[in-house]
Amino acid sequence: MTASPRRILVTGGASGLGRGIATAFRSAGDEVFLGDVNADAAAAVAAEIGATALPLDIADEASVLAAADRVTAAGGLDVLVNNAGVVAGGGTLQEVPVDAVDAALRVNVRGTFLMLRVFGALLAAAGRGSIVNISSIGARQPTPGLGHYEATKAAVDALTRTAAIELATAGVRVNAVAPGPV
Ligand SMILES: NC(=O)c1ccc[n+]([C@@H]2O[C@H](COP(=O)([O-])OP(=O)(O)OC[C@H]3O[C@@H](n4cnc5c(N)ncnc54)[C@H](O)[C@@H]3O)[C@@H](O)[C@H]2O)c1
Repeated sequence: MTASPRRILVTGGASGLGRGIATAFRSAGDEVFLGDVNADAAAAVAAEIGATALPLDIADEASVLAAADRVTAAGGLDVLVNNAGVVAGGGTLQEVPVDAVDAALRVNVRGTFLMLRVFGALLAAAGRGSIVNISSIGARQPTPGLGHYEATKAAVDALTRTAAIELATAGVRVNAVAPGPV
């Protein structure tokens, strides 16, 4: 008997690690949604690897809710990979542009929070599923010039721990992966 393909959503799937993660799931025979704020890049990568592009700004609540509706209409989700994230700039804490701090907080913290909120509820209602948040080794190993970004990844770690406890009773696993420089 062949197991049916899992349905996967990879945020930030149009580039870098997300694209690699999506490609690996496709190689395993899974159905993949590429959720990305860059709709053109997501469409191009989706066509290349046989995935479905999903326009999504993880930091915008209406966009996250619309993506959840679309995924639900397509049959629901087995795995969410919260990969979308930005560095947005750099500099010591005295020099980093405040706009860069705001951008990193918006996507990495607000965005990850909104995805856990909306898709966590969706998976909990189904009583199963798995969420993988992409953190960074920088959350616990400081890099001069990237302090603003690393603070947002420490927040991702904290959100992961809380979500793991809160969703465990619903049968949903939540973990984080903390890559070094790729
Ligand atoms: N590359 C590294 O060395 C490294 C190391 C540790 C952790 N990470 C983390 O891995 C993840 C991927 O990093 P990467 O280097 O592949 O990044 P990348 O810049 O190559 O790709 C990020 C993708 O996210 C998308 N994106 C940005 N904002 C978004 C939003 N609001 N909503 C939806 N999509 C959005 C971008 O359009 C892009 O396609 C990030 O969370 C990053 O912090 C990267």
